[in-house]
Amino acid sequence: MERIAVLTRDCAGVNAAIRAVVRTAAAGGLEVLGVLRGYEGLIGGDFVPLDRRSVSSIINLGGTVLKTARSERFFTAEGQAEAVKNIRARAVDGLIVIGGNGSLAGAHDLAVRHGIPTVGVPATIDNDVNGVDLAIGADTSVNVALDALDKIRDTATSLERIFVVEVMGRRCGYIAMQAALAGGCEEVLLPERDFDLEAMCREITEGRSKGKASWIIIVAEGKARAQDLAPAVARETGLETRVAVLGHIQRGGRPTAVDRILAARLGHAAVEALAGGASDVCINYRQGAVELLALETAVRTKAYDVGGDYQLLKVLA
Ligand code: F6P
Repeated sequence: MERIAVLTRDCAGVNAAIRAVVRTAAAGGLEVLGVLRGYEGLIGGDFVPLDRRSVSSIINLGGTVLKTARSERFFTAEGQAEAVKNIRARAVDGLIVIGGNGSLAGAHDLAVRHGIPTVGVPATIDNDVNGVDLAIGADTSVNVALDALDKIRDTATSLERIFVVEVMGRRCGYIAMQAALAGGCEEVLLPERDFDLEAMCREITEGRSKGKASWIIIVAEGKARAQDLAPAVARETGLETRVAVLGHIQRGGRPTAVDRILAARLGHAAVEALAGGASDVCINYRQGAVELLALETAVRTKAYDVGGDYQLLKVLA
């Protein structure tokens, strides 16, 4: 193996992973090409050479310096044929894909349908890659949400209001559950759990009668929309209710130390795995050690295990 390429989605920590890939490859005498704009760039043949210097001072940056795009075309036979043609034309011996489920599904296709050696690095704020404990970006997004919650609490407490705060997470309640627990919130609505609006509103009304003044209710976007939930809560309880939708601020910003260190470990391990002949695998970091998961497993829908966290939240609320 002489030349590898790296392709990314965006979230905090991805640049730190690119840096780890490039510098590990350089240390092992491998050339690296960056693919611009994700799978769209692979179809368009948009590669840039990356060396040790080109990844200087990106460890602290959010987003991806390689830029990215959602690509419908890549999931067509024509799109993949074009991408494979470009990989071969540039004499790329292996590809590292840093991203979430969609990106990893593309890497799996390249490996099994086209025989391109690929290794995936899980990076998604949703933390919904199956079998992966912690994806790059998830810790930063929880911390961004937590920072917002701490600020919202100031107004919630001062004005004795109810806040319904919507966080990201289409299929997975990871951000919602972690942020709710860390933020000391009263309630969290998760895709993984049934929810009873009337019971929640009864609890709020009873709490109010005992002197409790404010509530912060977190809702994962995949469960319900805050703008639908808040009026229903206001109607049922008669209390003043406000909405905050955190949106894409959760995907950007400076990566936390946890994300940077994870990115260093996973990016480094991805190059070692690829150079060592592994393919169609995704890197996971579990209990202090790197392990390889089959991409076929990683791209299956993850059943996020909320464990006892919801009950814990309710006891402490
Ligand atoms: O998968 C990451 C994620 O940020 C989700 O949490 C969110 O639902 C989605 O991407 C938003 O996608 P887009 O940036 O394309 O609107």
